[in-house]
Amino acid sequence: MEELVQQIEQLKQEINEYQSVSAELTEAFRIKYLGTKGIVKNIMGEMKNVPNDRKKEFGQILNEFKVFAESKYEFLKESTNGSTKASATIDWSLPGDPVGVGSRHPLSLVRNQIVSIFKRLGFAVAEGPEIEDDWHNFGAMNLPEDHPARDMQDTFYIHKDPSWLLRTHTSSVQARVMEKQKPPIRVICPGRVYRNETVSARAHCFFHQVEGLYIDEHVSFADLKQTLYFFVQEMFGKDVKVRFRPSYFPFTEPSAEMDISCLICGGEGCNVCKHTGWVEILGSGMVHPKVLENFGIDPNKYTGFAFGMGVERIAQLKYQVNDLRLYSQNDIRFLKQFTGAV
Ligand code: DAH
Repeated sequence: MEELVQQIEQLKQEINEYQSVSAELTEAFRIKYLGTKGIVKNIMGEMKNVPNDRKKEFGQILNEFKVFAESKYEFLKESTNGSTKASATIDWSLPGDPVGVGSRHPLSLVRNQIVSIFKRLGFAVAEGPEIEDDWHNFGAMNLPEDHPARDMQDTFYIHKDPSWLLRTHTSSVQARVMEKQKPPIRVICPGRVYRNETVSARAHCFFHQVEGLYIDEHVSFADLKQTLYFFVQEMFGKDVKVRFRPSYFPFTEPSAEMDISCLICGGEGCNVCKHTGWVEILGSGMVHPKVLENFGIDPNKYTGFAFGMGVERIAQLKYQVNDLRLYSQNDIRFLKQFTGAV
């Protein structure tokens, strides 16, 4: 009988130390100790060998042992919770892994800012596909097949059907808007565009633009200038100066490029402004009558202005990023610098 009591003590210790990291191990515990051929049952069977005068005392010890094994089983069941995960050995008091808060990509920050400035002027946002057909990207924008201006916008064509291409500019969205909507039209079109360029610090095979289009009766070049002047002041502050230079785009007549005074050197001359004190930020002009006619809009009744700017260029001036490749390399050290910017 003393031997039996000792054995029970040992078993209790064994049970106490039993650890389970899976439902399988918990089940193994049940079978070993509480099963029909298990240890508890087995020891209960010893009762018959106990002298009558000690049966009561031993009965109590046995009962206690049984309850002890059962409650351990309940505990194991709860902690492994039917799964095979290592939860029994988890130290719940350890501090948790911090959840990193991401940040917006610098190009998204700048695009959002551009969009919000034009929204305040009553422009709506329009989007179009990046895989375009020749008509919307070139033809409708007054760039027929043999037009020399196409040379500057070589892109990626789909081998089987070269009338499909990756759009070279967001001007294609102008075409899609005019196709669907009649004047007055007042939209901006942010998006990604593609060109067949060798990738370097100053050129990439894809970049981002925001296009603008305003068509109504009596829209003039003065409206164009005032709108863009407002934009620049909102984007870069009241001190920035602008200048327009005559230029050529097949889809506008007259056309102009707009420069702003260099924000990096304050107009004194640096690498970014190529020592001129001015940086080009966009192309613009009055929508060509031919383009209006392509969409059944009467050029004698309606006039309009359009512009297109590069988001990377604006971001370069705002954040002084001097290598275009950084925007798409996913280098976390670069991206982290924009944490907290909204
Ligand atoms: N699409 C031109 C480009 O990618 C930019 C541009 C110039 C857009 C003048 C316009 C515009 O809407 O009027 O170089």
